[in-house]
Amino acid sequence: MKVLFNNLIDFNEMPLSDWENLYLQIEKIIDNPVAYANCLSGRVLATPFYEPSTRTLFSFQTAMLRLGGTYIGFSDPGNSSVAKGESLKDTVRMLSGYADMIVMRHPLEGAAFAASLFSEVPVINAGDGGHLHPTQTLTDLVTIRKTFGRTSGLTVGLCGDLKNGRTVHSLIKALSRFENNSFCLISTPELRIPDYIKDHLDFCGCAYTEADSLEENIGNLDVLYMTRIQKERFSSAEEYKKQAGKYVLTGEKMKAAKQNMIVLHPLPRVDEISEDVDSDPRALYFTQARYGMFTRMGLLNTLAALPRGKAESVNSNVADVHCKNPRCITNHEKNLPELFKRPESDPSSLICMYCDHPAEI
Ligand code: NCD
Repeated sequence: MKVLFNNLIDFNEMPLSDWENLYLQIEKIIDNPVAYANCLSGRVLATPFYEPSTRTLFSFQTAMLRLGGTYIGFSDPGNSSVAKGESLKDTVRMLSGYADMIVMRHPLEGAAFAASLFSEVPVINAGDGGHLHPTQTLTDLVTIRKTFGRTSGLTVGLCGDLKNGRTVHSLIKALSRFENNSFCLISTPELRIPDYIKDHLDFCGCAYTEADSLEENIGNLDVLYMTRIQKERFSSAEEYKKQAGKYVLTGEKMKAAKQNMIVLHPLPRVDEISEDVDSDPRALYFTQARYGMFTRMGLLNTLAALPRGKAESVNSNVADVHCKNPRCITNHEKNLPELFKRPESDPSSLICMYCDHPAEI
């Protein structure tokens, strides 16, 4: 298979023809995983995880083992040279000398993009702060397509922490690439979706509504994507408590949903889906987690075919511009090039290439 993308930082940068090929491969893996058992024998995956993870880390590691490869990595940067003050840049340069691919999770936005600038092997973004989570998005798209046979023409409700949930941001952006999807964005006023995602939807001509009530909207949905309130991204425990427990999907609420609506959740769940929903055949979140492992097998198998090489240089000719997002990697890691692009939706403005936030000129 010819691969046109060589890092996975943002699903929207992957050509749709590559997504199509990848999906077809993932379907074959789901049907017969053992047939892929030796595909990556002798190959090594690096998994530097600077933030907690269960599913994403274990599913990548399991995927690599099921393909016949192996992995190195850390899940607590306190146990690595990061604790001695090593820069992200140096850690990545070194890991890219040892491994054939790097899967990285980091609390700062744009960290995976930064890593890709210094790596000689493909970099996969396993979550960069509240920004994006493209491999969860691939998992979500695979689950939706396996269920409905398509990723278009769907009414998708997303409920919970739409402000801080990177899986939400990634999935909405991804679904906006397919025809006739519309969105119902259910959250408290404090946890609404960021403006840059709304600008993106407006630019793509995707219909969306913002709503407070899950009960009033559940009956219109084909997909309900529940999310956890992202405790670790709040400024204080008090602020988190004001939002916790506001949305809980119960068996009673499911009675108003369509017979073929599906419930997805990237997991981990805290209290936003009560356990009586688990036995409902429309509750697909554990199936979704299993598909996540097969999805990552397909992705690793595809990226491992790429030749090792120096990172492509990125063009950006803007001087004296800074990213004003305090959670952007460029405001923490020293000596990263400041890189900006003009978004298609508003070519008069500038956004940071690492985190997509508006630039301060
Ligand atoms: C999500 C994440 O880390 O963003 N989990 C995951 O990767 N499956 C969702 C979350 O933590 O709420």
